[in-house]
Amino acid sequence: MLLIGPFSQILPMVDLPHKGAIADEQLPVIAGGGIVVDRGRIVTTGLFKSLREAYPACEVCFIDKPMVLLPGFIDCHTHICFDGNRSRDYAMRIAGKTYLEIARAGGGIWDSVTKTRLADEDTLLAGLVERANRHLKEGVTTIEVKSGYGLNMDGELKMLRTIQAAAAQTKASLIPTCLAAHMKPKDFTGTEKDYLDWILKELLPVVKQERLSDRVDIFVEETAFAAGDALAFLQAAHQMGLAATVHADQFSTGGTAVAVAAGALSADHLEASGEKEIALLAAADTVAVVLPGASLGLGMQYAPARKLLDAGASVAIASDWNPGSAPMGDLLVQAAVISAAEKLSTAEVLTGLTTRAAAALQLSETAGLKNGYVADMQAYPTPDYRDILYFQGKMKPAMVWKRGVLI
Ligand code: NIG
Ligand code: FE
Repeated sequence: MLLIGPFSQILPMVDLPHKGAIADEQLPVIAGGGIVVDRGRIVTTGLFKSLREAYPACEVCFIDKPMVLLPGFIDCHTHICFDGNRSRDYAMRIAGKTYLEIARAGGGIWDSVTKTRLADEDTLLAGLVERANRHLKEGVTTIEVKSGYGLNMDGELKMLRTIQAAAAQTKASLIPTCLAAHMKPKDFTGTEKDYLDWILKELLPVVKQERLSDRVDIFVEETAFAAGDALAFLQAAHQMGLAATVHADQFSTGGTAVAVAAGALSADHLEASGEKEIALLAAADTVAVVLPGASLGLGMQYAPARKLLDAGASVAIASDWNPGSAPMGDLLVQAAVISAAEKLSTAEVLTGLTTRAAAALQLSETAGLKNGYVADMQAYPTPDYRDILYFQGKMKPAMVWKRGVLI
């Protein structure tokens, strides 16, 4: 058993509303706090002084500088398994070229598919582990990782097996999602619906059998899959016991209605969502995941996070880290940027990076510093938790623990 502290402040992120707006006054803060951990789990939190008396035999890890402790962040939407770089796309985009011009020049998702298909497994694995470890060092202790740059049997299985192999090589927890429905591959003969049927009949049974993922994602968009086809796809996937998430309303609406009708865990992107979509998410259990990194990468508007929260939705914030639309991969910078643009309280941002992101991944016993929960934690070198967003992501955690072990 180990007692860690004293911390200037502990933000346990417990007893917070699951949905809707949250004022900073609602955030529980333990000043002069300590935490007791044992075999990777949290035993208790409280005043450091009281815990020393209550656990006199406990080994103590003294914190001799001002520090704020909170749960590790959960990035519930990434595409960090890929090979190749798309800086050429990015340069064209900031120089004013259109999506179509970039695609015609060989850019876009298909470019990453081509490079990822060609990559050998060791290269793919090394890149993924490096990105996961960078995230972990920056306080992100759980990372969802999508396939979706394979788009055929070999490519998708290679990606999902690589994510599985990477999970053994990084201390971060990786949650794999099958995004074979990212776009219809250019070398597939048949319609979009034929391709979705191929995923259901041929690919997903293997994914299930090899226990590579229990989640599917689909990109609902004019350039990807139509709402009607997507709903049928998610319903069929549900019959197979797979949970759903949706790339929704990035450029045009339609995806959110599909996500809610399918009972998806989350609807992600939402840059184009309007009043109707906001109302749907407010009434549903589907978490609204906003991806400020994609807005920054594409130079477009942020998702209406403030309106979503005010309407009563649950909002999580994720990085969308990918080689195309969101190459930065710094979750805290992105969360700080959207909080300033959308006027989100610190409580709303920190909940969006922890408990609400955990709900989007159906994680239990994670993302809160409470009795019995996994000891995934991070400490920032400041006496005041408000500094975390004030420095706009430039201040990184000085200490990160994964399952109670200091990284
Ligand atoms: O979430 N919107 C679709 N998919 C990714 C982009 C992937 C890529 O450009 O490679 C996204 O932004
Ligand atoms: Fe994405």
